This record gives sequence, structure tokens and C-alpha cells, in this order.
Amino acid sequence: MACAETLKGKLGMEAWYIQKSDEDQRLPHHCNPKQYVSLDKLRELGILYWHLNPQDYENDEELRKIRENRGYNYMDLLDLCPEKVENYEQKLKNFFTEHIHADEEIRYCLQGSGYFDVRDKNDRWIRIWIKEGDMIVLPAGIYHRFTLDTTNYIKLMRLFIGEPVWTCYNRPQEEHPARKQYVDNLSRIEGQGMTVQAH
Ligand code: LAC
Ligand code: NI
Repeated sequence: MACAETLKGKLGMEAWYIQKSDEDQRLPHHCNPKQYVSLDKLRELGILYWHLNPQDYENDEELRKIRENRGYNYMDLLDLCPEKVENYEQKLKNFFTEHIHADEEIRYCLQGSGYFDVRDKNDRWIRIWIKEGDMIVLPAGIYHRFTLDTTNYIKLMRLFIGEPVWTCYNRPQEEHPARKQYVDNLSRIEGQGMTVQAH
């Protein structure tokens, strides 16, 4: 079963803390020494992850189940290259501007690769490397941004519950209802983690 639990370690995607840098945003920006972040830690931030078979996305039973369970009835494909995307440069700029959404951001990488950066609880950037077959859900209200990596290409499936809304709310958004809800959820997830550890 291609779920987060069984494939963790084998196919788990890589994530790491990044350091401030004036270099190309497409570079890894590792800390020195490198500081990797586990899937468990990402889960504590409300981030979900699956590894699926991107060759078979049209008939994939695993994907169908995830979509059914989570109500992802909307789907489209974003082929992120200058020939296929209007206002390509502007879009890339917007993607890399720190923002939140009122809803989950659900992305499934079918080809290529890229980085989703998310803020941890201490407001540090974690860089999540998405490659072929990686599917990720960023919760509503999490501060994040996206950039291509040095391969300069990604093809993403975008999923959504109902009619898609792609509106970005750039930081700061502390009064946005989705942000407030997320901050509230974070402290509850933390609470659960502590309960589990106490047993
Ligand atoms: C975004 C692109 C990567 O919404 O789908 O950030
Ligand atoms: Ni976004």
C-alpha cells in the first residue's frame, strides 16, 4: 500500500532547514552542517504526504481513494514551463512570495521536481523537495512558497475540494481566519503529541 507509513524511509521525500542566502532560489540552500527534517516533523505541522505511481495517475486506485476520502473532486494539471504558462516569470515570482491560502494546497508531482518551503513552529523555513510521484497537502493557513529547483521543470496535478480558489494572501496574515485556525490546530496537534509521549 503506497501510504506514508509503509514507504517512509524507502521513498520518503527529503526535507531540510534552509539558511538565508542571496544565491539563486533554485539552489538547495542547506544549512552547514545539513539539517534534515523528518516526515513526522512535517506531519506535526499538518502536512500530509504520499508516494504514488506517476506513470499511472489516470487509473491509479491509490489516488482515487485519496481523492474520495478527502473530497478532492477537482483536478487540473500545471505544466510549469514558459511555453505553456502565461506570465511565467510573474507566476514564479508570486509562487515564491510567502503566502497562505484559505484552503489546503494539494499538489502531486507527475514529472520534474521543485521545492515547497514551509514555516515551522519557530518560523524557520523548511524546504521540501518534491519529485515524481510525491503528493503533498499543505494545510490551510500555513505560510509557504514554491520554487523550481535547478532542473527548472515540474508538472503538477492540482487538486481541490469543489470550485478551486487559488488566491494567495501574502504575509502578514495573522488575522486571516484560516491563519488563526491553523495556529489553533498547531497547538492542539502539539497537545496530542505530548499526550502520546506521556503514555
Ligand atoms: C503553487 C504552485 C506550485 O500554487 O502550484 O504554489
Ligand atoms: Ni500556495
